[in-house]
Amino acid sequence: MTAPALSYNPLMYALKHFWQSTIGKKIVMAVTGIVGILFVIGHMSGNLLMFKGQDAMHHYALLLRTSMPLLYVVRAVLLISVVLHAISAYQLTMLSRAARSQDYVQRRPQVTTFAARTIRWGGVLLLVFIVFHLLQLTLGVVHPDYRELDPYHNVLSGLSNPLIAAFYVLAMLALALHLYHGTWAAVRTLGIARPATLPLKRTLALVLAVIVAAGFMLIPLATLGGLFPDAPPVAEPTVTGTTMTAQPAPTASLRSREMH
Ligand code: HEM
Repeated sequence: MTAPALSYNPLMYALKHFWQSTIGKKIVMAVTGIVGILFVIGHMSGNLLMFKGQDAMHHYALLLRTSMPLLYVVRAVLLISVVLHAISAYQLTMLSRAARSQDYVQRRPQVTTFAARTIRWGGVLLLVFIVFHLLQLTLGVVHPDYRELDPYHNVLSGLSNPLIAAFYVLAMLALALHLYHGTWAAVRTLGIARPATLPLKRTLALVLAVIVAAGFMLIPLATLGGLFPDAPPVAEPTVTGTTMTAQPAPTASLRSREMH
């Protein structure tokens, strides 16, 4: 009896080789990093609805959930991106440490900026932040008074603790440094910039980092500064299939009229 021939899958073979190469890991980091950049731009813009008030945030949360299948696709892409980004960062760090263990005749470091030197620890801090953030504002398990579909209240009460607000500000500083160096590194890896345009790409990376981090940072700072007024709970949502509807809670004046 002859042994069955091992099936050779050229796609798997190419993917394995790609992942095992240094440039392959760098491309994975760059592409997953760009997914993260797009996410933070969108998320930061959405969070600014805090300044429009509870209704705006509530409708934003509802809008996300009225298209549940799409939300799950986005969540899956984000999760896979974060995992691949972290694994390739770890493996590239190990590879560069192994290479560096052979002594330099003359050390000429390529990494020069503060953002580049802090990229790894900043990344670890961001990972810790994201885990805490999801436990706090998405799952509500580390929140003193979590209310379903009421992100305005959840942000306001969650960030009114000065220690937690300070942690958010620290994480946003790490995000600014990470975005600055990361955007620049992704552009270089993917060969999007020609040498003559590199200074411009650096400036764009800086502008992006400052706008995104400052936009996020406004929320904990405004919470601590008392800029967001307290609001009554929104009514419980009713879930029907993949869509949800919710009635906004009666306003204070309406409720007092009902009581008389
Ligand atoms: C001041 C800063 C921030 C505020 C106020 C904030 C607020 C929120 C809120 C309220 C939610 C829950 C939304 C909902 O369930 O309807 C959320 C979810 C989330 N946030 Fe943030 N966020 C901030 C910064 C960040 C940063 C910097 C990141 C990533 C680097 C991030 C990543 C996420 C993720 C991944 C989710 C889960 C999204 C999902 O449900 O699929 N957030 N955030």
